[in-house]
Formats: sequence, structure tokens, C-alpha cells
Amino acid sequence: MDNIFDVAVIGAGPGGYVAAIRCAQLGLNTICIDDWKNEQGRSSLGGTCLNVGCIPSKALLESSENFARAGHKFAEHGIKLDGLSIDVPAMIARKDKIVKAFTGGIGMLFKKNKVTALHGCGVLQKRGNDDDGWEIRVKTDEKEQSVRARHVIIATGSVPRSLTVAPVDEVNVLDNAGALALQQTPGKLAIIGAGVIGLELGSVWRRLGAEVTILEAQTDFLPAADEQVAKEAYKALTRETGLVIHTGVEIKSTHAGKDNVKIEYADRDKNVQSLKVDKLIVAVGRVPNTVGLGAEEAGLQLDERGYIGVDKFCRTSLQDVYAIGDVVRGPMLAHKASEEGVAVAERIASNQQGASDSTAHIDLGMMPWVIYTAPEIAWVGKTEQALKAEGVAYKTGQFPFMANGRARALGETAGFVKVLADAESDRILGVHMVGPYVSEMIAEAVVAMEFSASSEDLARIVHAHPSLSESLHEAALGVAKRTIHI
Ligand code: FAD
Ligand code: NAI
Repeated sequence: MDNIFDVAVIGAGPGGYVAAIRCAQLGLNTICIDDWKNEQGRSSLGGTCLNVGCIPSKALLESSENFARAGHKFAEHGIKLDGLSIDVPAMIARKDKIVKAFTGGIGMLFKKNKVTALHGCGVLQKRGNDDDGWEIRVKTDEKEQSVRARHVIIATGSVPRSLTVAPVDEVNVLDNAGALALQQTPGKLAIIGAGVIGLELGSVWRRLGAEVTILEAQTDFLPAADEQVAKEAYKALTRETGLVIHTGVEIKSTHAGKDNVKIEYADRDKNVQSLKVDKLIVAVGRVPNTVGLGAEEAGLQLDERGYIGVDKFCRTSLQDVYAIGDVVRGPMLAHKASEEGVAVAERIASNQQGASDSTAHIDLGMMPWVIYTAPEIAWVGKTEQALKAEGVAYKTGQFPFMANGRARALGETAGFVKVLADAESDRILGVHMVGPYVSEMIAEAVVAMEFSASSEDLARIVHAHPSLSESLHEAALGVAKRTIHI
């Protein structure tokens, strides 16, 4: 490892591994350093997303949704099932198999693209002589070695935020990793935090039969989503899925016993309530991960919340050091991390070739959000409440899945699509969806908005019949009060 690399990437989550591959594709000699270890103590590339995040949670959501459909929805199709049961260890083993295939796949992609992979914790050193580039000390339990690189991309991700009143022991009090590895369905499950993890993992275990109570500090449910969408989602998740959601609570204490956890909380009327459950999941957000990175010693500036400070090009306070993904500002989403990785790789490559400074950066306002509950929730752009707060004049068009032929055939009629467009120019400002497969449908809205489409543009585009995407078409038609099917 005496050679100097063009780029050293620290972290191999969806930010780091994608950045490393793109750097290598652009001809940069690239090393990617990552310290993730799986349960067997082996290196496992892919970071939070592949190991304990997006991929395993979606695997369990799919399994549990199939079980729920078989139990509650097959009968209306005339399909009769006797003695339906769920083999939780088999479901978890399927999830583990998917994770193994994907994490192993990153190693293969690294080989294919000639990215050098190095396992260990990367510690950025204070820079000395400019010609030597940056030094990173890479530590494992067994040894320590040094890597040099002209450019560094930090992609060290995030870790669960801890709650003093509810310390995680991964036995009865779990974070996302523990909640994805349960070998049996808990009879009673509590979750602190009605955010994205709370709703997705709460849905998984509720569908398998657990009584799930979610305790949320904020008085509003899903305040980041469009209010109307949040309202519809709350109705479906409480009435159909059967989640019990208490908002406006304050957790007073938790006591983890051998087989259960006792929780005391003040409800929204300040009355103290207690709850005894088999398992408790703590999902109160995530914090940027700079532990062990040597940020302070190297002179890297963090902001007041602990994120690495960056500009719109992901440049940090240190020359030729970039940071991307969950460890910097913006939504903590895998696709955001990956796209920042691509933009930084292209910037480094073009600067090396003496190109101008005008390389790509990511528009955080165009970031799609998806919550994989049933019904799914997805949006891009501004919410109606944000437009009101900003005093922007807008028009709306809306279409319910109840009136969509494909949704009817699927038997998934909850929810709607809403398009928000500028009152004067008709440019689409936001698209909000709650309903079946909206995780897939949102992509069309992102493309439309990236191309500065008007609602009329969407309304004039032919959509296949019968398809769920016709609901977006009809919602766009609705902006000019010309929906056909309602
Ligand atoms: P990470 O994925 O956290 O990767 C960082 C990597 O860097 C890790 O491997 C870590 O071990 C390593 N590392 C840290 N410090 C060092 C060091 N000093 N030296 C070497 N290596 C280091 N997002 C979505 O978009 N869609 C979803 O459906 C979704 N579902 C999720 C479900 C759950 C349960 C969770 C927890 C998250 C989910 N997310 C989802 C969020 C998504 O996982 C993150 O936004 C994404 O993983 C961030 O990518 P990253 O590359 O910035 O960091
Ligand atoms: P979150 O920020 O989505 O939700 C955390 C919730 O916990 C908030 O509603 C917050 O008000 C609440 N909370 C905080 N402190 C509390 C307390 N003391 N008592 C009760 N409630 C409290 O964070 P979450 O769910 O942990 O997920 C972390 C991040 O991971 C998400 O923000 C998202 O970026 C990413 N993620 C994305 C997914 C997706 O894209 N489908 C799926 C899962 C996670």
C-alpha cells in the first residue's frame, strides 16, 4: 500500500461504495476502506442500507405483507387457506440470504471495477506536506496500516440516536438491527418513535400478529409529509394495519426485565400511563457517525449538530476532502447518499482533467421520499402546508385509487394522488401519494419535476390502461378541473 491513490473513500455504504465505483469508472485509482463486520465477524460491505437498513427491512415488509394478504385478502378472491402460519426463522433466514447476496455483490463490483477494498477503521491524519496527499491510518483488531490518497471522500454514515431513558440492550430493548433479527413474533411490542423505522418495522411485526403500540413525542403524525397524506396514512395504519399510535407523549422511564419491558410515559394530557411489553424498539432518529474518524485531530469542521460541514458540492473545510450521505446535511436516504457519491466522483475526475468548476451537484428539493407501509407513502417536492407557509399561490389536482381500475383489480383502493402546481406558471411544485405501489409511481413525478414539467405536460402524456399511473395522470388533469373518472 505504498502507492498514493487518487481517491480514498472511507465507508462502503450506498454513498461510499457507489462513489468508489464511479471514481474507478472515471479512471481514478481508488481504495474503499470500511469497518462493518457481520454477526460472523467478517467484513460485510454495503453499510447500514444493505446490512441493517433498506434491504433487510424491505425483505421483511414483503414477507409480512404476503402473510397479511394470505390471511385477510385472499378470501375475497375466492382463495381458501386452512391452517395458515408463519415460520419466523425461515422469514429471517430469507432476509439474511438477500443481505448476503447483496453485500457479497459489492465485493464483486469492486473487483470488476478495480476498486481496492480494505477492511478496517479509517482514521484521517493531519495533513503535512501537500505532495504526500492525505494519510489515513487503517486499524483492525490485528493490525494497523497506512494509506495515502490525493482526495478523500468521507461516507461514514449514521448510527441510531440513543435515548437515555431507554438504553438498547439488543435483548428486549432493540434498535433497528435487533428489530430486524427477532426469531419469534413478540406478543406485545412497543416502539418509541412514529418515524419511518417505527412505521415500517411496526407494520412488519403487527402483520405477523404482535400487538404494536407506537409512542411518538410530536403531537402531529408524520409532520414531514403532506398533511392530507399523513391523515389518510394514519387512518389506514391504525384502522387497517391495526397499529396503536399515541402522539404527544413523553417517555418517563423504561425498565428492562428478563422477559419484558415496562414503560412509563405521560400521554398528551400529561397523565402518566404504563405499558408492559415483550420487546421495545427505540427508533428516534439517527445521528451522523464521525466516531473514530479522527475528524477533530485532522481539523475537519463539524456543524453544531455533529454533521460534517459541506457546501453544495460536498466539499468539506479541508482541501480535497469531500463528505457525502448520512454524515452530511440533508435527508438520510440511500439514494441521496449514492447520488452525492456520483456527483463528487465526477467533480474530482473533471478537476483532475483541468475542467471547469461547474460539475453536477444534487438538488435536495427533488429527493423522493418513500415509506414502505401498506398503503405506501411517497412524495417529492413541496407539501401543501409548506406552500401555504411560503405564501406561494398554487392549484391542486387529486385522484383517489378507489376510482382506478387497476387498484380495484388489486383490491388496494385506499389512498390518492395529489399534484400541486404553481397557480400562474402551472409548473409542478410537489406530488404526494398514498396508496398501492406508489414507491414505484413516484419516479414519474420526479422525472416530470426534474424536467420542470407543468401539470398540463403530465396531463397530455398517454398512460397505459389499466394502470396505477393513470391516477397520477388524472390528478394532473384535475389541476385544470378536467379529471375524467370522478
Ligand atoms: P451507511 O450506509 O451508514 O454506511 C457507512 C459505512 O461506513 C458503514 O459500513 C460503516 O461501518 C462505515 N464506517 C463508519 N466509520 C468508518 C471509519 N472511520 N472507517 C471505515 N469505515 C467506517 N434509506 C432509503 O433511501 N430507503 C429505505 O428504504 C431505507 N430504509 C432504511 C431502513 C432502516 C431500518 C434504516 C436504519 C435506514 C434506512 N434507510 C433507508 C436509510 C439508509 O440506510 C441510509 O440513508 C444510508 O445507508 C446512508 O448511506 P451512507 O453511505 O451515507 O452510510
Ligand atoms: P425519524 O426521524 O424518521 O423518526 C423518529 C421519530 O421519533 C420522530 O417522529 C420523532 O419525533 C420521534 N422521537 C424522537 N425522540 C422521541 C422521544 N424521546 N420519544 C418519542 N418519540 C421520539 O427516524 P427513524 O425512524 O429512526 O429513521 C431514521 C432515518 O432513517 C429516517 O429519518 C430516514 O432518513 C431513514 N429511513 C428511511 C426509510 C425509507 O426511506 N423508507 C426507512 C427507514 C429509515
